[in-house]
Amino acid sequence: MKPVVFVTRRIPEVGLSPVREACQMRLWEGELPPPKDVLLREVADCDGLLCLLTDPIDAEVIAAGARLRVISQMAVGVDNIDLKAATARGIPVGHTPGVLTEATADFTFALLMAAARRVPEGVDYVRAGKWRTWEPMGLLGMDIWQATLGIIGLGRIGAAVARRARGFAMRILYYDPARRPDLEAELGVEYAELDDLLAQSDFVTLHCPLNAETYHLIDERALRRMKPTAILINAARGPVVDTAALVRALSEGWIRAAALDVTDPEPIPPDHPLVSLPNCVVVPHIASATVATRERMATMAAENLLAGLRGERLPYCANPDVYTARA
Ligand code: GLV
Repeated sequence: MKPVVFVTRRIPEVGLSPVREACQMRLWEGELPPPKDVLLREVADCDGLLCLLTDPIDAEVIAAGARLRVISQMAVGVDNIDLKAATARGIPVGHTPGVLTEATADFTFALLMAAARRVPEGVDYVRAGKWRTWEPMGLLGMDIWQATLGIIGLGRIGAAVARRARGFAMRILYYDPARRPDLEAELGVEYAELDDLLAQSDFVTLHCPLNAETYHLIDERALRRMKPTAILINAARGPVVDTAALVRALSEGWIRAAALDVTDPEPIPPDHPLVSLPNCVVVPHIASATVATRERMATMAAENLLAGLRGERLPYCANPDVYTARA
């Protein structure tokens, strides 16, 4: 008997076909995530679950999956999954680190440059028929070359952003609970306490996971410490930033601009103030959205799923303590 798996959305075929071959695959064909009741019903008789960051895999879902042997998420972040509940049940959780690092770092720079040089405003300007002449003081932005970049979270993606920043001759500060002398030497990045990083940076970019320590890390106090000319970039997770405080910061000029790939709530409603503020660039969580990256993520998610179903250690496991807890 082939194991039964539920796949919560259509993913690139390179990831689906090995799953279809090895398993009795049930695929949610909806454009939107399956509703909670569907998720609860589907996991009830599944051996494996292949899910996305939009699926709330909470303790209730995990408890409903009485037969679940593996959860494999096609994303690097797993804050939507109750890892503790999965570990307690002995269920390994797979994720997709590494393969989206460069695409996400590229996109972080796209956001940074779009906000600094007011690219979306320029596009709107031309589309609205307002371009009548070269304007000596029109759409002035902020310099990137030799500016100070503050990276919060110097993991794989933060370090990849730092590598790009060197090409712009930026001074690079970082804050991370784990000091990284190896990267300080390799990339010439300087460690700074969070408050110092916020006060000194022209650009503050977030690359930390969402957890209890990072929830609302960028709150009113943090935003008020930033320079009035500074730009905030978030390609991590929406709730790392206090949205209400950011709206006030952008409306009242505590900071100059923001560029967000992720928001809280997500998706953000089109009538939300962040969407209409001219100094805020919002895009729909697309930092890893390149053809090749999404194919690599789908492949890795399938590898994790199939390894778990075979009872093997997951190649990329987000809760490795599940193995030591069992031993
Ligand atoms: C995207 O946000 C991911 O976590 O992979």
